[in-house]
Amino acid sequence: MSTSKRYTITSALPYTNGPIHIGHLAGVYVPADIYSRYLRITGNDVAFICGSDEHGAAIPMRAKKEGVSPQVIIDKYHAIIKKSFEDFGITFDNYSRTSAPIHHETASEFFKKLYDDGKFIEETSEQLYDPEADQFLADRFVIGTCPKCGHEEAYGDQCENCGSSLNATDLINPKSTISGAKPTLKQTKHWFLPLDQYEDFLKEWVLVGHKKDWKTNVYGQIKSWVDDGLRPRAVTRDLDWGIPVPVEGAEGKVLYVWFDAPIGYISSTKEWAEREGKDWEPYWKDKNTKLVHFIGKDNIVFHCIIFPSMLKAEGSYILPENVPANEFLNLEGNKLSTSKNWAVWLHEYLEDFPGKQDVLRYVLTANAPETKDNDFTWKDFQDKNNNELVNNFGNFVNRIVVLTNKYYEGIVPTPNEFSEVDLQTLTALRAYPNVIGSSIERYRFREASQELLNVSRLGNKYLADEEPWKLIKTDPERVKTIMYVGLQIASALATLSEPFLPFTSQKLKNMLALTSSDLEVQWNEITDKEVLLVAGHKIEKGELLFSKIDDADIQKQLDKLEATKKANEAENKIVEPQKDTATFEDFTKMDLRVGTIVEAEKMPKAKKLLVLKVDTGINTRTIVSGIAEHFKPQDLIGKKVTVLVNLAPRKLRGVESEGMILMTETPDGKLVFLNPDEESVKPGAVIS
Ligand code: MF3
Ligand code: ZN
Repeated sequence: MSTSKRYTITSALPYTNGPIHIGHLAGVYVPADIYSRYLRITGNDVAFICGSDEHGAAIPMRAKKEGVSPQVIIDKYHAIIKKSFEDFGITFDNYSRTSAPIHHETASEFFKKLYDDGKFIEETSEQLYDPEADQFLADRFVIGTCPKCGHEEAYGDQCENCGSSLNATDLINPKSTISGAKPTLKQTKHWFLPLDQYEDFLKEWVLVGHKKDWKTNVYGQIKSWVDDGLRPRAVTRDLDWGIPVPVEGAEGKVLYVWFDAPIGYISSTKEWAEREGKDWEPYWKDKNTKLVHFIGKDNIVFHCIIFPSMLKAEGSYILPENVPANEFLNLEGNKLSTSKNWAVWLHEYLEDFPGKQDVLRYVLTANAPETKDNDFTWKDFQDKNNNELVNNFGNFVNRIVVLTNKYYEGIVPTPNEFSEVDLQTLTALRAYPNVIGSSIERYRFREASQELLNVSRLGNKYLADEEPWKLIKTDPERVKTIMYVGLQIASALATLSEPFLPFTSQKLKNMLALTSSDLEVQWNEITDKEVLLVAGHKIEKGELLFSKIDDADIQKQLDKLEATKKANEAENKIVEPQKDTATFEDFTKMDLRVGTIVEAEKMPKAKKLLVLKVDTGINTRTIVSGIAEHFKPQDLIGKKVTVLVNLAPRKLRGVESEGMILMTETPDGKLVFLNPDEESVKPGAVIS
């Protein structure tokens, strides 16, 4: 178990080009919050740091799409993100933003120091340029084929298929994402961090130093980059959105977003320290501080190669103790995507499931993509809530609290002599702080969450075996001991659940009347203390900790996703290719007229068919049309339509149909009539 230490815990600064979704939460923020809460309640000095990442190409691109300024975009999403994190119980000590003056200062100073110390290479080289947009292309502004794996949509800084970090000029067949133009080459000056000079340092520090304690997925990625050989990396960009390069001769250039953003961890720490009246420096410079970066796997190169090399170059900073990067979470079998709206958005979840923050926290932890990509499904969300939270955790607590109120008016009874089973149960309970704590300290949050559920499982089994509700009639003295043991388990649960289920933990503490600090049970006391909840203490009435989620709630979410899928398909629908040529004679063979629907009714026993009477000007005739799923018969009366009147008649379900009504379809599959909107057009008018 940890003795008191100083921790600086960072979680990736989210881009303010969209809201937070479950992929971000499962990969980064939920594990980071569990870790931070655990370290705080076990008595450590914790700075849990985050903020919005507001520079880079993604922001102006999004702004362009929405037709507003980048400032409008970052203000909008910064506010949504910050609020949703708070409402979800993520306990950042500080949530800053990289547009803040303190960050601009800190990042500029950092650059200036490396510049003055001669750590950069200054080089004029040919870079990709978009002649139509009149702008240099790097990072997300250019896509092309990855030289490593052949993926055709690799970005100028990274291939999302194979994870390689790239320079824009490496791309085969590059294309501007702004105008679609083929880039030309144009000379421009930039500053490069010579990563090749840091290879030995990186080998020594990670590949030798952390071989044993870092996750294999993280270690493996770093090793393959270093083995491939590192190259100088440009840390400036020709862009007008970002932090101006603070040296002469750099007009119109800004710091590369991946240079400034991780420095955001430092400026956010400074902002916090200033507010709290603390000194920020020990959190970044004292060798005894443990620096831990929580990130997703697409950020590994930046946190394990580039940022550490920057810190090393600067010289006065500590390096991360660990970077427990996670794999990705998918949603219902498909990759999460902000641009495709394929996500469960945190701010929407909070609205759709009020008071159920802990359910999502639990499901994302129990199913965390720690060692491989995982899938979030709404069915699994429902099952985990109903079977594990309601039936296991909630059920145990409910039984204990209700029975204590029923038998003893809420007063913890004085136990009699403990049986063998009682002693075994209490001994088992005492082991959990260590078991759960050690899983958390090794970044195994899934495992830790399952051990937490084992505590309530222990309680449920104990009650089921001892059956106090039966013994109450025959052996009330024995029941006192059983209830006493059960109450010890419940009070341990209130503390042990805090990192994972903070809202539930608080409710449980209220129920057990453990709200004053001298009554509250400390994490380690569960192991060390003889008694957690003393006889004579009065608890409160019960309230349900969790409630069932029914099929209708789940269906609503599935319908939402289905609608997204349809909308995406419509957007990508390929226009059907043109048919073979028709001669003028072919066309004039078709007699197209304006008609008016005068009667409409459903064809008996046919889901799709309507029987219409249409005034074609020539006569009023029967036409059978497959539109019953799209229109109600009564709504069609009087509708003007286009009719092919000389189509050879044919029988449909025994009814002869003499003609065809022309229709078209909207992207989401709705049928619409082709009707002349000119009032005075009369039935029988020829269409030619
Ligand atoms: N905004 C980046 C992303 O969402 C993460 C930035 S992490 C930091 O992928 F270290 F640069 F801050
Ligand atoms: Zn690739």
